[in-house]
Amino acid sequence: MKKCGFISAGLVYGGSSLMLVGCASVSYLPYSEENNLLVIKKSNFVKEKYGLIGYKNLPAPIYITKLENNKYSAVLLKCTHKGCEVAPAGDLLICPCHGSEYSNTGEVLQSPADKDLYSFSIKTDSENIYVNVENN
Ligand code: FES
Repeated sequence: MKKCGFISAGLVYGGSSLMLVGCASVSYLPYSEENNLLVIKKSNFVKEKYGLIGYKNLPAPIYITKLENNKYSAVLLKCTHKGCEVAPAGDLLICPCHGSEYSNTGEVLQSPADKDLYSFSIKTDSENIYVNVENN
């Protein structure tokens, strides 16, 4: 597996911009809102394993990962150490401030962070992913 380095990150909320990190890029995805749920089409994940949601009420993007068996995870890209925005780097999420590393599902792998990234509850149906942003 090729491991991409963390070189730079750039992002814009709410548009179709990309987060560019090393040799990887992750797209911001369109979504709609239903009550406290963000609704994302599963068709966004036919070719891609990862996607970003720039939701206005959150301090950082949501990072969605397509897992095996038609499951998904959604984590807030806000470092649990001192709150910097974490960036995708291949299959890892890396904090540019002090080097904490997380798995793509938000599990802390490298200190100084000692807590996992905030994980949103998710439901799915045949067409959509529903990310619950209540209490955020
Ligand atoms: S804020 Fe992320 S490692 Fe310190």
